[in-house]
Amino acid sequence: MIDQINNTQAIIRSKMQKITNHNYDKVMTSDIVAHHIVHQFNPSGTILEPCKGTGSFLKFLPNGTLWCEIDEGKDFFKFNEKVDWIITNPPYSLARDFMIHSFEISNNVVLLLPATKIFASGGKMFGINQYGGIKVIQFVKPKLCGFNFGWNVAIFHFQKDYRGMTQINYEFNKFEWLNQIGTMPFYRCNICNKVLRYK
Ligand SMILES: C[S@@+](CC[C@H](N)C(=O)[O-])C[C@H]1O[C@@H](n2cnc3c(N)ncnc32)[C@H](O)[C@@H]1O
Repeated sequence: MIDQINNTQAIIRSKMQKITNHNYDKVMTSDIVAHHIVHQFNPSGTILEPCKGTGSFLKFLPNGTLWCEIDEGKDFFKFNEKVDWIITNPPYSLARDFMIHSFEISNNVVLLLPATKIFASGGKMFGINQYGGIKVIQFVKPKLCGFNFGWNVAIFHFQKDYRGMTQINYEFNKFEWLNQIGTMPFYRCNICNKVLRYK
């Protein structure tokens, strides 16, 4: 019975993805923001990048970080091991399902998403409240993330059983803009002093 339900859910997901599949399911995170997120949350224990794309986050996550990527035959929805951290920028058409499955297997979930993907649905807020809470929200400019759209983007840190206050801030302050050569600005991370190129 459970297998049947799982199969039906997978079929619906795959159909939904085909119907809604657009460029926004494949927007890759810039190095500067991937580096910042990893450095900011400093994950430890077992870590999973559930949809690695071209590997922006993996570049900065510790060696041994687990990963999935549907295009390389590793479907996140078939990954059922428990992990300590999940960190990613998920495909937007599957944001809800990614969030739900992440909550099932991890105590810390960090998602980079257009803010409306979280706030526009009462169902999502209910799911978040059942899991725990939102510990941190950091707004980032979509352009800094490497995204070619104007939606308000934020980094969300969800933590299991978290019932405290939510810290909200604007994360650009963590970067010092260094100079610009042509259209390529350089930034220094104020946490580790690493200099990163925007693109
Ligand atoms: C928005 S992109 C982000 C990639 C990467 N996380 C990053 O931040 O650069 C989402 C990725 O999810 C992958 N994806 C979609 N459905 C998936 C699934 N069921 N399991 C694993 N990866 C999936 C897509 O192929 C795409 O590479």
